[in-house]
Amino acid sequence: MSARNLFSEIQLGANHLPNRIVMAPMTRLRAVGGIPNEIMAEYYRQRASAGLIVTECTMVSPMSNGYMNCPGIYSPEQIAGWQVVTDAVHQAGGKIFLQLWHSGPISHPTLLDGKQPVAPSAIAPVGTLHTPAGKITIETPRALELKEITGIVEEFHQAAKNAMQAGFDGVELHGAFGYLIDRFLQDGSNQRTDIYGGSVENRARFLLEVVEAVCQVWGGERVGIKLSPSNTFYGMHDSNPVATFSYAIQQLDRFNLAYVHLMEPSEDDLKTDGVINPVLATFRPFYSGLIITNGNYDKARGNQAIASEEADLVSFGRPFIANPDLPQRFAIDAPLNEVNFATVYGKGDRDLERGYTDYPALV
Ligand SMILES: Cc1cc2nc3c(=O)[nH]c(=O)nc-3n(C[C@H](O)[C@H](O)[C@H](O)COP(=O)(O)O)c2cc1C
Repeated sequence: MSARNLFSEIQLGANHLPNRIVMAPMTRLRAVGGIPNEIMAEYYRQRASAGLIVTECTMVSPMSNGYMNCPGIYSPEQIAGWQVVTDAVHQAGGKIFLQLWHSGPISHPTLLDGKQPVAPSAIAPVGTLHTPAGKITIETPRALELKEITGIVEEFHQAAKNAMQAGFDGVELHGAFGYLIDRFLQDGSNQRTDIYGGSVENRARFLLEVVEAVCQVWGGERVGIKLSPSNTFYGMHDSNPVATFSYAIQQLDRFNLAYVHLMEPSEDDLKTDGVINPVLATFRPFYSGLIITNGNYDKARGNQAIASEEADLVSFGRPFIANPDLPQRFAIDAPLNEVNFATVYGKGDRDLERGYTDYPALV
C-alpha cells in the first residue's frame, strides 16, 4: 500500500474529505459593511477543490470587530450572505467551515460604535491597526468584568447556531494570533485574579467554555480550533508556552473535535528567542485526535508531514490566494501563480475582484 499523502481521502469528524489540502483562514476584507456578498461566494467557489475551506475570521458580535469590511455572523443579512457562499461551495462539491472570531483588544472605538475594546486585562497589544480614523497605534483595552464573560461565551454559542443556519459544514474557533481567546490563555496578556486568570487551568477556562458552547450546537465532530503557540504578533507572549498550550491541547481531547489546527512560527516569530519550533512535534504527543498543520508548507513538506503521520492534514494560506486550483497544480506539479501582496486586502467598496477572484486557474 502506498504511503498516505496530501491526496489521500480522510474522515474529518463528521465530514468526509476527498483530500487533505485545507485552505487556511484568510482575512480579505471584501465584506462591505460586514455582509458577505456574491464576489466572496465566487472567491470561495473557485477554491472548492480544497478538501476543506476554512473561511476568513468572522465576527461573532458587533464588539468583535477588528478590521474594516470583515464579515460577521450575527445579523440576518450576514447569515443570508453566508448562505450564498455555502451554496456556491457546495454546488462546486466543496466543504466549508466558518471561522468564529472575537478580536478582543485588536480593535478601536471607530470600529465598535465608539466603545472601548475589551480584553482579559488592561494591557495594550503591541502594534498598529487600520481604522476609519486612519492608521493608529493599538490602545489599552478595558478589562472585562467577570459578569460580562458569560455573555461573550453566549455570543459564540449564538454565532455557531447562525453558522448552522447559513449552511456551513462546521465551524473553526479562532484561538490564535492574540485575539480574545488567545489573550485569555497566555499569561503575558492575562493578569486576572478571578477564575479566568492566574493558573493555566483558569486561563484556559474561557477557551474551554467557548469550545463547549459551540460543541453544544454542532457536536464536537464538526468543530475545530486554531492555535498559534509560537505567534509573537501583537506582542503575545507567555512565561511557559509549552506548559500553557500542552494543557489546553490535552483538555481539547475530551471534546472529540474534528481537529486542532496548529500554526508553526512565521519567519518574524523566529526572530524572538525561545519561540517553540517546531510546534507540531512539540504538541503532537498531547493530542489523540486529528491535527491540521500550517505555516509555510509546500507540496513536498506537506506530503512528508502526512506520510510521517505527524499531521493528518495540511493547510495552505498564501498559496491559495493566488492559486484557486491549488490541489490540481500540486497533482500535476504545475507552476504556482505568485501573490500580489498589494491587493491582498480589500480597500473599501471598489474593485473588490482585483487580486481576489481574478487569479487564473489552469486551463
Ligand atoms: C492575508 C492573510 C490573512 C489571514 N487571515 C487569517 C484569519 O482571518 N484567521 C486566521 O486564523 N489566520 C489568518 N491568516 C493566517 C493563515 O491562516 C496562515 O496561518 C498563514 O498564512 C500561514 O500559512 P501559509 O504559510 O500557508 O500562508 C491570514 C494570513 C494571510 C496571508
